[in-house]
Amino acid sequence: MEMKIAVIGGDGIGPEIVAEARKVLTAVCQKYGHSITYTELLMGGCSIDRYGVPLTQETIEAAKANDAVLMGSIGGDAKTSPWYQLPPEKRPEAGLLGIRKALGLYANLRPAYLFKELADSCPLSAKEGGRNFDLIIVRELTGGLYFGERWTKEIDGVLTAQDTLKYNENEIRRVARTAFEIAGKRRKKVTSVDKANVLDTSRLWRKVVHEVAAEYPDIGENDMLVDNCAMQLVKDPEQFDVILTENMFGDILSDEASMITGSIGMLSSASLNESSFGLYEPSHGSAPDIAGLGIANPVATILSAAMMLRYSFGLGAEADAIERAVKDTLAAGFRSADLMPKDPEKAKGLTKVNCAGMGDEIAGRIQ
Ligand code: IPM
Ligand code: MG
Repeated sequence: MEMKIAVIGGDGIGPEIVAEARKVLTAVCQKYGHSITYTELLMGGCSIDRYGVPLTQETIEAAKANDAVLMGSIGGDAKTSPWYQLPPEKRPEAGLLGIRKALGLYANLRPAYLFKELADSCPLSAKEGGRNFDLIIVRELTGGLYFGERWTKEIDGVLTAQDTLKYNENEIRRVARTAFEIAGKRRKKVTSVDKANVLDTSRLWRKVVHEVAAEYPDIGENDMLVDNCAMQLVKDPEQFDVILTENMFGDILSDEASMITGSIGMLSSASLNESSFGLYEPSHGSAPDIAGLGIANPVATILSAAMMLRYSFGLGAEADAIERAVKDTLAAGFRSADLMPKDPEKAKGLTKVNCAGMGDEIAGRIQ
C-alpha cells in the first residue's frame, strides 16, 4: 500500500518521539511491503515562531491532502515561554483545537490498559488475581465547552467571564455510534458518562445515547455520573470497556485513566472523522522540561502509529505487529527513564535506554 502521511512534530519532545514512530513505520513497511510519503507540517509553537499563528490555512489544506496525520505534541512551559504572552487564540493549544475542528475530528479514542510488564507501576491498590484493566475512552472532540461562545468583560465594574456548554443531538449521536461500533469489536459494553443530575446538555446526551443504544441490541449500555466515574476509575477500572463522554469530561477522565496505568508515556490516541481520515498523537503533552535531552518515552507515539495503520489504513496485522513489538521490548527488559522502577531491587535485570534506543529496540522486533 502507498500511504500519504502528514507529520506534525510540533514542540518540546514532539519531534524526538515522532522520529522514533517513523523508524518503527519504516520497519513495518520493509517487512510488509508498503511505502509511505511524509509531508512535514508546522503547528503549535513552532508555527507561531515561523508564521505568527499556531495553525495556518496552508497546514490545514496540506493535512487534508494526506490520508492521515501523525503528530507529536504542541505547547511549551506556560510560565516561561513567550508563546503564553500571546492572546489565548494565538497560543499553541489554539492550533490543536483549530485543526481538530477544521478536519471534523469529532471522535477521540484514548485506550488505557495495563501492560503486564509494567504492572508494578500501577498506583492502584492490589487486587486478588492482580490488576488487569483494558478500557478505551471515546471523547467527543469538536463540541461542548471547548467550542462554545466565550467572553471576559467587566459588568457593572465586576470582571466576569463566561463559557458556553452546548450540544445538539446530531453531535451526540455520531460520537455515540462510534463508541457502540468500537464496543462491538471489544467486550460489548458502553458506559456513557454525563452529569444528568445537573446539566441540560447531559440530559440530552443521555436521551440520545439511549436511542443509539436501541440500534445496538447486542451491546450493553449503562449511564454513570462523571463524579462517580472519576471515583470508579481508581476503585474498579476493570468494570469498564468503552467509556463514552463529552469533550471536557473526556479531557479530565482520560488523564486520570492514563495515570492508573502508571505511565502516561505509554498511551496513544486517535481522533477520527466520519471517513477513515484521522489524527494520531500520544495522550501526553510536550514535556518541555525534558525536550532535547533525548530521554522521552516514544511508546505512546509508536502505539499511535499502530492505531493509524488500524483505523486509517485498515492494516490490522501491521498494527498488531507494532503492538507486539512494544510488548516484546518491555518483556526483554528495555525501559525508558520514566518506566524505570525507583526501587533498585525491581530495576534489577532491566536495561535503561534513551528515546532513540527504545525506538531501535521496538523497530528491531517488528515481525
Ligand atoms: C488533550 C489536551 C488538549 C485538550 C489541550 C492541549 C488543549 O489536554 O488533548 O487532552 O484539552 O483537549
Ligand atoms: Mg488533556
